Amino acid sequence: MRVLLIALCASLVSGFAAAEGEQTFGAHCARCHAPIEIKRRMLGDWLGRTAADLFSTTKQTMPGESPGSLSDDEYLAVVAYMLDLAGVNRPGDALSTTALTRISIIAQVRDEYQVSQRRI
Ligand code: HEC
Repeated sequence: MRVLLIALCASLVSGFAAAEGEQTFGAHCARCHAPIEIKRRMLGDWLGRTAADLFSTTKQTMPGESPGSLSDDEYLAVVAYMLDLAGVNRPGDALSTTALTRISIIAQVRDEYQVSQRRI
């Protein structure tokens, strides 16, 4: 039983943000957004901005009809999910608001972009 609990906790810590985020997205965002559309937004308007900015903008404006209605943990998880959709590297552990300021959407995505430009 104890071993099972430890294993469960370990998987919860590493998988927390993305799995929670996918669920939160399904419950609160998917009625208006599709993952592919969010990915396009991340790789479009959101290039060059930080994950912290994404967190505060999402919290202040989303869900459309009831901004700010989710908990901070839910917003963190859904931000992690949106970053994952866009292929932006982030720490594997659960996100914190401090960690978000260190994640720049441009840094990783631009690398990918430059790589793809070089190939052409
Ligand atoms: C009732 C519909 C609705 C719901 C629910 C909703 N959104 Fe939105 N969202 C919108 C609309 C409409 C826009 C476009 C605003 C624009 O582009 O001007 C938008 C824009 C966004 C943007 C881009 C914001 C920007 O300034 O670039 C993000 C990110 C986003 N939504 C995330 C979410 C997340 C995460 C959730 C769930 C917690 C969510 N939305 C729930 C309608 C909704």
